[in-house]
Amino acid sequence: MADSRQNKPILVVHGPNLNMLGKREPEHYGGQTLDEINESLRAKAIELGLQVSTFQSNHEGKIVEAIQEAVGRIRGLIINPAAYTHTSVAIRDALAMLDIPIVEIHLSNIHRREPFRHQSMIADIVAARIAGFGSYGYLLALEGLIEILKKG
Ligand code: DQA
Repeated sequence: MADSRQNKPILVVHGPNLNMLGKREPEHYGGQTLDEINESLRAKAIELGLQVSTFQSNHEGKIVEAIQEAVGRIRGLIINPAAYTHTSVAIRDALAMLDIPIVEIHLSNIHRREPFRHQSMIADIVAARIAGFGSYGYLLALEGLIEILKKG
């Protein structure tokens, strides 16, 4: 299948405070660490015959730069912008430059939480959104992204 022959990776971007997963508010975010999530993504990618690279930053500008550097180099992007979901026009604008499918993912169901978390600055520019499945959501995001890519 054409998609699996392409060797451009899928980029997974993790926003601020997600490096603290495992220790951070487990009632919202579960007990898995970011390393464990990244490892499960890599294992799933091998199973699906894909390449995944991962990036985490606590800094808005660094996330913007990682997205800029990905232009033309990736076939799809999964992003949990964390707190920047609700505030960042800069990340939205960077994502809007990409002409590849983007999946937005949140560990918690942001719509069941405080009103300020209900708004996403990127909801209307992504192909699909996942929220509330905990760390399993990342694997769903990867599988879903592959389906989107297969449909072309
Ligand atoms: C989050 C939800 C955000 O509101 C929060 O700021 C995060 C994580 C999630 O994955 O549920 O840091 O994106």
